[in-house]
Amino acid sequence: MSKREELPVGVFDSGIGGLTVAREIMRQMPREKIVYFGDTARVPYGNKSRDTVLSYSEQIVRFLLSQDVKAIVVACNTASAYALPEIVKHCPVPIIGVVEPGAVTAARATRVGKIGVIGTKATISSGIYDQCIERIRPGTRVLGQACPLFVPLVEEGLWEDPVTDEIARRYLLELMNEGIDTLILGCTHYPLIRKTIGRIVGPSVQLVNPAYETAIELRDLLQRENLLASEAPGLGSAESQYRFYVSDMADQFRAFANSIIKYGILSAKTIRIDQY
Ligand code: DGL
Repeated sequence: MSKREELPVGVFDSGIGGLTVAREIMRQMPREKIVYFGDTARVPYGNKSRDTVLSYSEQIVRFLLSQDVKAIVVACNTASAYALPEIVKHCPVPIIGVVEPGAVTAARATRVGKIGVIGTKATISSGIYDQCIERIRPGTRVLGQACPLFVPLVEEGLWEDPVTDEIARRYLLELMNEGIDTLILGCTHYPLIRKTIGRIVGPSVQLVNPAYETAIELRDLLQRENLLASEAPGLGSAESQYRFYVSDMADQFRAFANSIIKYGILSAKTIRIDQY
């Protein structure tokens, strides 16, 4: 039996977006093992109802627990907004999402007190970032903009493309006109088109990628719970250290994962998530 601290961390998203969080965990905590699940058969979550996102997320949490994870990171804003508040009530291992860490950083970063948030329809209409930021820094104006076409563009690999440029311009124009100085990338897919977004909003707007702070929060949490891994990974062990599961299209996911995460050739396995 492995010692509890040497067990993997579970990370999940509706698709490839959560890899931006997994990548940050790998960078900041190279000893940790990860079991990643991407719900590639049912992506996108961002235009589904709260009940559907909750039941999908509960299945994924059950799957990750079956893999003996010591903690779970909900690397999806939509699931963090719609499912985490419910799941946290009965999850037997520590679980965190991506919203709180991003909100804290943005609240600290803004000078003019006006923060833009871009995300899926679900995340924006849930008002979760507004509520979090109001708690942290009352009186801050939070302007939300749903960007439903970004997820399919990212999943299609159109990260640097005139079509993405044009759509981003339309989505971001209003926020720019409102004079925001901080913009939260409130969907884990968006850091993959960060260059495009940054070019359009210009250098006076600070982009907040919650992945970075989420990894810091995870480290603090594992430390508090005495769960930080201490064993150094063996040589050439990326394959055993990082395990990837999806609900469909494993080959396509694997190609994406390998272009985002530079830790050698990773493999991905398809599972029937609806059986959990
Ligand atoms: N990457 C996810 C998020 O952070 C969800 C995208 C989607 O499935 O719509 O919200």
